[in-house]
Amino acid sequence: MRKYHAKKLDKEALYPYQPWKITEQEFLIETNHHNEAIFTLGNGYMGLRGTFEEDYPGSEETTTPGFYINGVYASEEIIYGEEAPNSPKKGQTIVNLADWSEINLYINEEKLNLLKGQILDYKRELDMEQGILRREMIWEDRQGRKIEIKINRLISLSREHIGAIRYQFKAINFSGKISVNSAVNGDVSNHHHLRNKKALEVIESEINTNTGYLLHKVKTTGFKVAYVVEHLLDDYAKQNCEIKKRSSDNRIDWIFEISAVEGEEYTIDKIVGINHCKEEAENPLSAARASVARASITGFENLVEEQAEFMSGYWQDVDVKIEGAEALQQAFRFNAFHILQAAGKDGQTSVAAKGISGEHYEGHYFWDTESYILPFFAFQRPEVARNLLLYRYNTLDKAKKNAARMRLEGALYPWRTINGAEASGFFMGSTVQYHINADIAYAVNLYYQVSRDQEFMENYGLEILIETARMWLSLGSYIPMHDNKFCFNEVCGPDEYKPGVNNNAYTNYMAKFNLDIAIKMAEIIKDKSPEKYKRVAERIGLTDNEINRMREISEDIYLPYDERLEITPQDDSFLYKNPIEVDNIPDSDLPLVKNWHPLIIWRYQVIKQADVLLLMLQLGYQFDRDLKIRNYDYYEPKTTHDSSLSPAIYSILASEIGYKNQAYNYFMQTARLDLDDFNENVYQGVHTACMGGTWLALVQGFAGMRMFNNKLYFHPDLPDGWDEYQFRLRFKASQIEVTVKENKVKYMLISGDKVEFKHYDQLVVLEESNLSQELEI
Ligand code: BGC
Repeated sequence: MRKYHAKKLDKEALYPYQPWKITEQEFLIETNHHNEAIFTLGNGYMGLRGTFEEDYPGSEETTTPGFYINGVYASEEIIYGEEAPNSPKKGQTIVNLADWSEINLYINEEKLNLLKGQILDYKRELDMEQGILRREMIWEDRQGRKIEIKINRLISLSREHIGAIRYQFKAINFSGKISVNSAVNGDVSNHHHLRNKKALEVIESEINTNTGYLLHKVKTTGFKVAYVVEHLLDDYAKQNCEIKKRSSDNRIDWIFEISAVEGEEYTIDKIVGINHCKEEAENPLSAARASVARASITGFENLVEEQAEFMSGYWQDVDVKIEGAEALQQAFRFNAFHILQAAGKDGQTSVAAKGISGEHYEGHYFWDTESYILPFFAFQRPEVARNLLLYRYNTLDKAKKNAARMRLEGALYPWRTINGAEASGFFMGSTVQYHINADIAYAVNLYYQVSRDQEFMENYGLEILIETARMWLSLGSYIPMHDNKFCFNEVCGPDEYKPGVNNNAYTNYMAKFNLDIAIKMAEIIKDKSPEKYKRVAERIGLTDNEINRMREISEDIYLPYDERLEITPQDDSFLYKNPIEVDNIPDSDLPLVKNWHPLIIWRYQVIKQADVLLLMLQLGYQFDRDLKIRNYDYYEPKTTHDSSLSPAIYSILASEIGYKNQAYNYFMQTARLDLDDFNENVYQGVHTACMGGTWLALVQGFAGMRMFNNKLYFHPDLPDGWDEYQFRLRFKASQIEVTVKENKVKYMLISGDKVEFKHYDQLVVLEESNLSQELEI
């Protein structure tokens, strides 16, 4: 394994290994920034970074507070050094919205500030079993007054518009005035990307005794966001409290002044409803008000209970249990928790590269969703996978415009986007990655194979498949010097270190897959639902001639193979570049993307992330084991893994070809990337694709699960040092549980009537009369 990555595995754990929790045991301002991302709470609709309730006017080195709604963005003109014709004019950047979590506490006039006075006790824990963030501390102010504070925070997973904080405090050694200043702070800015960082204006606000609201507008895009707040005080706090209100241009403040009695605990619950809308004529206020009214009646304790119930259902489906590897047990739950929090579930949004946990990558969606995250949902929570694909369907028109921009037919999905239009100003890193079309088609098929959701395929899937396939017909051309094969020139595969190449193998094979699956689905639907087919075909102008043309071209696509090296060449030029091994590159030059000019990178046979190897996985049934080994041996030493999307794929392939050590080491790089902050950039937000990749590395890697042509296969293995691991998968209306132990595996039918799959070459059938089967590995 490459030295650069091996080094990272020695990194000390930042949090104790606990099966269900991530605990910060000590407050240190130096670790505050990455904790803000780790302790992010979200529900797919919105995300709140784990910034404290009390404000620390710190520097951007130590804190970047953030509250975001998935899909709510600001837009600015892209400034080009040299603009290529038909380049996207406007960018899209997720907006840092009002901070509604702000709560400051004062003992008399002294403000709670963990950087002053003394922290006598401190603990913050993310409880992944319950879906809640808790902080408990005892703080002594500079006059020696001690106060105990307990804060519980949640973003409701069952009510997507609700966030809530329970704030409790107890004076330990004094009686006197304690003021709790709760606010909606609309005076916020973006930390990154936007030139005009003040993206918002307040259009309305109101404050009453313990309720109030603020209404924001995103200046450049017109999104309106309403934050409605209601405070609930326990009886004891109510009786001893005077409430003051303050409002200014862009914030509203409630000050609860309590005559605190030594030893008594006081509780203030802050229930917040957040809604947004895009249309000028709409107003999100009444919806937010209604959500808050309902949640306030429900009460904080019941919201907590609801949350735990939601999580318990989620864990039933997605929990991976690992015996004998506590660091990994924790990592799996952490990753699954964040994937849930990051994923849009409304068909209008998707999963941003950093989830809803930071502004980096501008809140953009990439191919990460379909290639790394969608399988996680398709096999465990198919309804989420369906919605992620519906997002692509709902943005198909914009993808068609994007194709037209490139003088192509059909649809070309954008490389980076929020609203469906291409948002990248750097075409050599974005539009050139045409493979995203095939990745989306692959995901449509994957979801369909797992779910057999015929309705989805007929109403949405087929159209995506046809429009993406059309793009390939117009992108490629017959090239005489390639024996008149159909070639794709000036493309970039997943390896972003080789843009603008001809015949990237991943792209060519996946384009063929895209065409073949479009043809196959068209045939199936034509046969099963001729009326439906007719309607779709008429609407999108699909003819039998076009299907025939797709078939012809698919057969003619150039599928590269190098006879001399007996490997799959990454593209036409890769093998002719200057050979280099990553071990010969000084550590200080890595990641290359930050240290070498692109022209230098392009000269070498150096790879950013799995490319040919990803092909060996996605279309693995088309290649034999020996070729996979030769490809692995050739490309692995040349791969820097400068993208966190890479190690998981190497781990899976290493498992398949029996390189057990490498499989394990690559798996370790992916599983705890964020928790151990391998890349020292988790403060920017979590790496959602890498989190999805971790799950793939276990299920497809160690358990050797594959699904090709509607059939499921397992080739399970137990990594050294583990006692056992277990996961559940859905497949065609059934759910199965797979438990891998030393030398044996148990398959169990959890729900559904009957399921069939292969364990190595053996056919396994689970049904009512035979619910489970234990087999040798
Ligand atoms: C990777 C891309 C990925 C993007 C967002 C880049 O560094 O090379 O493959 O889509 O990050 O995660």
